[in-house]
Amino acid sequence: NTVGIIGVPFSGGQPRQGVEEGPLRLVEFGLIDQLKSMDWAVEFEGHRDYVSLRPAHDPDSGKLKRPRYVSAVTKVVAEQVEAQARRGNMVLTLGGDHSIAIGTVAGIFTTYPEACLIWIDAHADINTPKTTTSGNIHGCPVSFLLGIAGKVPEFEWVPHCLRPDRIVYIGLRDVDEGEKRILRENGIKAFSMSHVDRYGIGQVVEMALDHVNPKRDRPIHLSFDVDALDPSVAPSTGTPVRGGLTFREGHYICEAMSETGLLVGVDIMEVNPALEDEVSVYQTVTIGCSLARCSLGETLL
Ligand code: ARG
Ligand code: MN
Ligand code: MN
Ligand code: MN
Repeated sequence: NTVGIIGVPFSGGQPRQGVEEGPLRLVEFGLIDQLKSMDWAVEFEGHRDYVSLRPAHDPDSGKLKRPRYVSAVTKVVAEQVEAQARRGNMVLTLGGDHSIAIGTVAGIFTTYPEACLIWIDAHADINTPKTTTSGNIHGCPVSFLLGIAGKVPEFEWVPHCLRPDRIVYIGLRDVDEGEKRILRENGIKAFSMSHVDRYGIGQVVEMALDHVNPKRDRPIHLSFDVDALDPSVAPSTGTPVRGGLTFREGHYICEAMSETGLLVGVDIMEVNPALEDEVSVYQTVTIGCSLARCSLGETLL
């Protein structure tokens, strides 16, 4: 089996420098060799230079910051992901900030229109250009993919490829008021940390799959924001929120997704090696690697 790795050293969807170093550090730490030793054939073309896509002039579009830059990068990512997926490869995308998921999800769903999306995050990332208070596009990718973002000329290219009943969240605990309304009005299924507390992670993953993939016949894309994990286990990320998934809960989700045999795409997002101390960075980079390995079939026994 072949995995295509797409490193996306990009931070334009949010204001903190350093998250563009995430993919480089994950690869430096040995992710590619780790996957090879698990018997994956790995295709990795090196980290592409997305900085050259940065327009000289990129004024805000309404509240959205760096719209042309984010649009240009995510469009290229969509093409890269689709090219890998069309060849039947598993696609592993390393971020970078979570705006990149506009590209990964577009690429996967163009290839597999019947796919479903499992979004692991402290945040819903479903703000529209109207509801966002930060203007950071990493808080908005899901709204573009659903086609509820309204008209934004810079993002006209984004396919409205996601149906509200084909996405499910796990790990939420910092959802904006506007986002709560969007989730409610669109009937989008979400398991917050409170649900994880009540039912346990095993039951939550089962219920999540029952919702988006009842017959277990749809291809699955897993988009994992490392801030879903508790900051005590993954501190080096731009928008940490206390009360997150434990080390094992995070890994369990990836193991369970791999066990379905239906995974076609995985994102590991928001690792920011510029934040906090050396120990924090080590913890966060190693966990990024191990989540990727579990998603690609590594087991404990
Ligand atoms: N909801 C906040 C916003 O819209 C935070 C989003 C954080 N997103 C992330 N991918 N870490 O700005
Ligand atoms: Mn997040
Ligand atoms: Mn649109
Ligand atoms: Mn996110």
